[in-house]
Amino acid sequence: MELVVYRSKYGHTKQYAEWLASARNCEAIPLKKLSKQHIERHDTIIFGTGVYIGKMKGLKKILRRCKTKTLVVFACGGSIKDPAHEAIIVRQNLHGVDHSNLTFFYVPGGIDLSKVKGPMRPFMNIAKWMISKKKNKSKDEIEFLKGFEAPTYYVSEEHLEPILKFLGDNP
Ligand SMILES: Cc1cc2nc3c(=O)[nH]c(=O)nc-3n(C[C@H](O)[C@H](O)[C@H](O)COP(=O)(O)O)c2cc1C
Repeated sequence: MELVVYRSKYGHTKQYAEWLASARNCEAIPLKKLSKQHIERHDTIIFGTGVYIGKMKGLKKILRRCKTKTLVVFACGGSIKDPAHEAIIVRQNLHGVDHSNLTFFYVPGGIDLSKVKGPMRPFMNIAKWMISKKKNKSKDEIEFLKGFEAPTYYVSEEHLEPILKFLGDNP
């Protein structure tokens, strides 16, 4: 049995989690509600989370608590699908992770920098200033700068196709 678990700040990952749960006919719950009983009752945990300053939030907790489970993990980031960007996320979050049955996917979320408040705000402005001065900007950096001009939103059910195919092929 599958269970979808998500951690989502602005709702992008939550939307993907709900679509997945509906397509797989299973439950989607926020990470903070994940109990020992949930883990015991499910063989496959599908975990989705937003990427913040390179980090997949909550991933360490899932890895620690679901050591013996089949894990399908998806990162929801601010940019469109780009293998180079995905490779960085994998390197920064899964490098050296010892889990025998884990598969990674990336889905595009979006960025609305007007919603970023608190201690993050000055950090974002410094990052903006540094990136805008760079001559050769990566696709990722270009996406980041776009988020200051107008919100970007790439959430779409079609991005779940590779995950759904994988789950269908590996029941
Ligand atoms: C402060 C901040 C830092 C971010 N850092 C990254 C990042 O390092 N890589 C990335 O791909 N996206 C980054 N993003 C974009 C988020 O991952 C994106 O908005 C995602 O859709 C959030 O999903 P959620 O709404 O489910 O939390 C960042 C967004 C904010 C606000």
